[in-house]
Amino acid sequence: MSHSMSILCDIFIFSTSIHNMYTITELTERINHGVERIAYHAEPQNLYAPIQYILSIGGKRIRPLLMLMGYNLYQDNVDDILNNALALETYHNFTLLHDDLMDKSDMRRGNPTVHKKWNDNTAILSGDTMLIMAYQLFNQGVKNAEAWTAFIDATLGVCEGQQYDIDFETRKDVSEAEYMEMIRLKTSLLLGYALKIGAILGGADAEDQKNLYAFGEKMGLAFQLQDDWLDVYGDPKKFQKKLGGDIVDNKKTFMLINAYQLADDIKKAELDKWMSAQDCQEAEKIAAVTHIYNIVGIDRLVQKKIEDIFAQALSCLEKVKVENTKKAELRLFADKLLGRQY
Ligand code: IPE
Ligand code: IPE
Ligand code: MG
Ligand code: MG
Ligand code: MG
Repeated sequence: MSHSMSILCDIFIFSTSIHNMYTITELTERINHGVERIAYHAEPQNLYAPIQYILSIGGKRIRPLLMLMGYNLYQDNVDDILNNALALETYHNFTLLHDDLMDKSDMRRGNPTVHKKWNDNTAILSGDTMLIMAYQLFNQGVKNAEAWTAFIDATLGVCEGQQYDIDFETRKDVSEAEYMEMIRLKTSLLLGYALKIGAILGGADAEDQKNLYAFGEKMGLAFQLQDDWLDVYGDPKKFQKKLGGDIVDNKKTFMLINAYQLADDIKKAELDKWMSAQDCQEAEKIAAVTHIYNIVGIDRLVQKKIEDIFAQALSCLEKVKVENTKKAELRLFADKLLGRQY
């Protein structure tokens, strides 16, 4: 090889390897480091201590991770959009404070929920504060009008999904399609938009933005189906939330909707009885409904649905016009999510 040729080669190797792809572990460290700064020692203590609490007791950080990974497909310096990513995590934690109040949940991330450790008013106001802090953080990030619109659409949509979730508790005729739309709003939007915002800020074209959004949206559907499955079949030592909460609340999950479809008249009547039971023993209700799930084969049915949707998600990722090797970490992420136990 001539000298000039070798220099050209060096330049080429340099220009392709300069693109730094971060691992999930490296990105999680950056996110956790950033999260530690949020609400640090702010006053009044009674407002900010619960915020520090919820942000410090764990969490998988999947939404900021997806944003950074989406960005990293196109750009090196993920730190540039760290505030945008932290905004999404702060918003997510706001939804958890209010969700736990709405769902009457006592445990989150293996610890007491904020309304249990403090009180309902605290969960409301510290939650509201996190919602505002989320917009503040996004505003401190990279400024981009399209990204702002995406952030607003995502965060508004989650509230719409949460309202359907609550409305469905007292309805008997919720269809599987309605359930899928409800979880698309309450859960998938945030995963889809996390990737889309990362892609927008990274300079992706419209087609890649669309495919990354679709990848996140599908993953989000599978993720919520899995969350509902874990609520019934999770390992209590690993799940970090109290099992059976959805059954107690009459949540119209994929599992309950399909159990009604598959049950014979006797089991349908039994499900009806538990849905309308007042002041019953929670443990008894959970055991009885789970027993019906087991008899009609809900476990397999939901697992199959999760696997199918994950496969669809991965096919959307394949369409993204970025070298395969750069997509490896996102594929790994999807794999890890599929096997999650909490
Ligand atoms: C919980 O979200 C709420 C759902 C959408 C199911 P995560 O499972 O991402 O909760 P953390 O942040 O990891 O605790
Ligand atoms: C909540 O769904 C999704 C949110 C927008 C917070 P769930 O109510 O099933 O979430 P968990 O199980 O309490 O985390
Ligand atoms: Mg809940
Ligand atoms: Mg809920
Ligand atoms: Mg749940």
